[in-house]
Amino acid sequence: MDLTSFVEDGSNKLKVQQIFSKGVRMIYQDALDTIISDSSLLDKLILMEDIPSEITSDFLKQIKTPKALVQTPIIPEIKPAFKVIKNYDDWEPINPQSFWNFFLSRYKAISQMLWKRPNLKNTVSIGQLSRVKGREDLSIIGMVRDIRDTNDGRRIIKVEDLSGSTTVIIPKNLPERGEIIPDEIIGLKGQAGRGIFFANAVVFPDIPQVHWPVAKRSKILFLSDNHVGSKKYLEDVWDKFVSWINEHKEISYVLIAGDLVDGIGMYKNQDKSLEIDTIEGQMEALAKYLKQIRKDVKILLISGNHDPNRDSEPQPAFPADIGKPLKKLDNLEVYSNPAWVEIEGITILMYHGTSLDSMIDAVEPIRSEGYQKPFLGQKHLLKKRHLSPIFGRNKIFPDKHDFMVINKVPHVFHTGHVHKFSINSYRGVKLISTGTFQDTTNFQEKLGHVPSPGKFIVMDLSDGSTEAIDFSKLQ
Ligand SMILES: [Fe+2]
Repeated sequence: MDLTSFVEDGSNKLKVQQIFSKGVRMIYQDALDTIISDSSLLDKLILMEDIPSEITSDFLKQIKTPKALVQTPIIPEIKPAFKVIKNYDDWEPINPQSFWNFFLSRYKAISQMLWKRPNLKNTVSIGQLSRVKGREDLSIIGMVRDIRDTNDGRRIIKVEDLSGSTTVIIPKNLPERGEIIPDEIIGLKGQAGRGIFFANAVVFPDIPQVHWPVAKRSKILFLSDNHVGSKKYLEDVWDKFVSWINEHKEISYVLIAGDLVDGIGMYKNQDKSLEIDTIEGQMEALAKYLKQIRKDVKILLISGNHDPNRDSEPQPAFPADIGKPLKKLDNLEVYSNPAWVEIEGITILMYHGTSLDSMIDAVEPIRSEGYQKPFLGQKHLLKKRHLSPIFGRNKIFPDKHDFMVINKVPHVFHTGHVHKFSINSYRGVKLISTGTFQDTTNFQEKLGHVPSPGKFIVMDLSDGSTEAIDFSKLQ
């Protein structure tokens, strides 16, 4: 076929035009001959993102033999290493100023995240609203105080910043209306008038898309809610887990997100459901169980609300006397709840998850399904950039700096507490919620919860891929 008849073919003509429209200025004669003999090259050229301005036959040869162009990516190998990057170990006694400082630090940290948002242009301080004339599109950033719903489906909230406070009307049709909860910091777009701000959009601080740097790394196992000392402690499931981990040498780390023991006096008549009724006895038993894990596995653990630690979050690592039995284990690190750890370059946020109760109750869209799908609550914590936004629903220690602000966005967010297994992801962050070594309690049954005893998660840190594992089902 000669060149003229080749280009006159309708589809070829169109393809040649497409190639020239990609910035090609010249196709050399010998390159044209090559194309005529193999018209599939036209399709390859069209699909190329970077195309040279002059097409030579040498270049076409490279396309024909793509092996020369496509290099096997070299996947780096990361050496086993871990470190804690955010651990709570320093606090001051509370005084009347503490609460002010605490909320101020939260406001500053999260409002700064919002100020950078391009969708919150024309942001003014709340104190300036009274001087605004006419119906101008504005934004404000404030901490949510009162929330009230009207009979016609609107939500009326009070928000405040350092300059003042205002009433905001959130219309019924705004999808974020039911997501707004007390004490969180949000951005609002709308118009001001007669001392009221009429919102037409709600902007949560939210997280950016997270990228997973692929490399060859270790595998880790996520656990939580051992509840050692409870009559419902599933010793047989623990034994199966121990046999499994001691055989599966590819697992290098075990992360445990709190409720290691069942504790004492957690609720009325708890003593009747305890197998071990002293803190010392429970902690000794915990150490005995953890010792059964092979020594080359690194165990990282944090407290939960059942553990003998202070009952307000953040919880530091155990006090020295209580944590003494655990000191005998060389392969164990105890961190605060929450703690940010880094394993082979991957950041993992470990949080027991106590605030999930108040989140499931307060965030309307997740109220009915939150206990069955814990990832929904995890997602909203990330959106609000805070691990326990509602002050007072679960106890929070009012520090000078609010440690619970999610100022470091992790690759993995691990919680326990609701005893329910789930794997999900949000904006690239892997959401891991693990089961329990405690059988379903009467209390959970009464509440209609369906926990996941024995169900935990293995993650390959190379790419974040996960595998569910039910130790109760192993032989
Ligand atoms: Fe628990």
